[in-house]
Amino acid sequence: MSYGPDQILDGVGKSDYERYLKLSELLQLQPVKESWKHRDELLFTVVHQTSELWLKHASAEAGQAAAYLKDNQIRSALRLFPRILLAIKYCHESLDMLEQMSPWDYQQVRRALGHGSGFDSPGMNSIRKAIPPLGVEFNRLLGVEKIDLIQLFIRHTEFEDLYLLAESLIELDERMYLWRHRHFKVVERSIGLKVSGTQGTPVEILSRLNNFTFFPELWDARTAITNYAIAEEGEN
Ligand code: HEM
Repeated sequence: MSYGPDQILDGVGKSDYERYLKLSELLQLQPVKESWKHRDELLFTVVHQTSELWLKHASAEAGQAAAYLKDNQIRSALRLFPRILLAIKYCHESLDMLEQMSPWDYQQVRRALGHGSGFDSPGMNSIRKAIPPLGVEFNRLLGVEKIDLIQLFIRHTEFEDLYLLAESLIELDERMYLWRHRHFKVVERSIGLKVSGTQGTPVEILSRLNNFTFFPELWDARTAITNYAIAEEGEN
């Protein structure tokens, strides 16, 4: 069968749409029906694979945002933050789909996973590596403006871009925190807490990660601002 002049790209697939997006390869990357231990392997795989893709995208955007900041281009970096935040939000929301699996059905899926563990998630590990350099650049830019965090919050209209960067960083921290807490609940709902994961890690250990923050100083600044306001009020 020949296809008309509509196809101009090389590659596998009937259309340029399939060829450019490499859909023939992509759609073969899920376990086939014949090998399923349970049909929910498809649901499980799609959620994990799409999460890995969104996290790959988020990490690339975070890397570019850090490069812009290094070059003092705060606005160019700010334009990328919504992309990073949306990608993490999509990962968060797709956890809903995993709760469509019954705990018993998940036990059948689990048999197919070997020692596969989220600790080895390339996407989550790369976004976690990509976030701290954003904070390093933010602190450097505070130094360039010779201003501390509290003054930045109080005089935010004078330093609008830097202030928006501070808010973008705390939002990123919050979104990561929300994903972690949501994931923790999904794990509890799927397999319970007083058990071990596929690599033998007790699930309860995950709760210790729940309090982690990337930018504690941005959270502490809120307390400092409240105390500053109270002290100022006391003076009047
Ligand atoms: C039914 C759904 C899920 C279950 C039951 C589950 C279960 C677990 C368990 C038991 C752990 C502890 C480590 C281990 O022994 O494996 C873990 C860690 C982890 N999982 Fe999941 N998981 C699920 C979905 C996901 C999804 C969709 C992602 C997205 C990438 C993910 C990413 C991670 C990460 C990054 C960790 C390391 C700990 C952390 O960063 O909080 N998991 N998961």
